[in-house]
Amino acid sequence: MKVFTTIHDMQTEMIKLKKYGKTIGFVPTMGYLHDGHMSLLKKARQENDLVVLSIFVNPLQFGPTEDFSAYPRNLDRDKEIALNERVDYLFCPSSVEMYPRQPSVKVVVQERIDVMCGKSRPGHFDGVATVLTKLFHIVKPNRVYFGLKDAQQVAVVDWLIKDFHFPIELIPCETVREEDGLAKSSRNTNLLEQERGEARHLYKSLLSAKEMIDDGERDRETVIQFITNYLLNNTSGSIDYVEIYSYPELKEMTMLTGTFIIALAVKFSHARLIDNIIITI
Ligand code: PAJ
Repeated sequence: MKVFTTIHDMQTEMIKLKKYGKTIGFVPTMGYLHDGHMSLLKKARQENDLVVLSIFVNPLQFGPTEDFSAYPRNLDRDKEIALNERVDYLFCPSSVEMYPRQPSVKVVVQERIDVMCGKSRPGHFDGVATVLTKLFHIVKPNRVYFGLKDAQQVAVVDWLIKDFHFPIELIPCETVREEDGLAKSSRNTNLLEQERGEARHLYKSLLSAKEMIDDGERDRETVIQFITNYLLNNTSGSIDYVEIYSYPELKEMTMLTGTFIIALAVKFSHARLIDNIIITI
């Protein structure tokens, strides 16, 4: 595995590889790798000649009161995992390398950000779209792999690729979960012991809602109210949102029909967790 920390070296190498006609599968991450990230790497490994992993905790996508400094980091451990997953190139730049000064140009996301994490984390998706635009230009991948745990991010990346004409195929990947259903996340490590026990109820609430819908419930508000009550009764976290929209459009709906996402975010003492399920009826 080759490790690069400068944009110039990474980009030069990628340009060289493209000349040889190699296909590049790219998995952008913020590190502290877990099985969720690994599932993306495995898929990229199957579908491409070369696999590129980036690890960069992107300050631009964190709000002023968010957990940028508390975000877990362990590059040595991540390097071992990357080696095991047969990653060919690891790109792990510093913040100064990526942002040597205040960016003079930023990508501003205008659609699908008035809901879910876009609403509760103003500017977050601008930060994501900006760093991904930079990374896509540096890595020049054929395919990019993103997890549906961050379903709104997948929708935003879909439009970023389309609107800016990146010659890249987006591959959305299923959410990987712990045995008790909790979606794997680097942030799970910041849960207190009691909160870790309660956190399984996030997915349980979504599954119970799915059962209601399978049994014929079609009223959006009733399902939201059910999940909200479930979370209030079973967790000590504060609910950031419980929302339902058509997917991937993320448009309002009163009656549940077609393909839609049920998404939630809950704030615990030191970790804000998100989860969702996408249902088609
Ligand atoms: P990060 O949270 O590290 O996630 C990197 C990728 O792993 C994302 O595509 C995310 O959806 C996916 N992922 C995380 N947990 C997962 C799980 N349990 N199952 C499946 N996939 C999972 O998302 C980011 O980083 C950043 O916003 C980034 C795209 C790197 C831009 O900075």
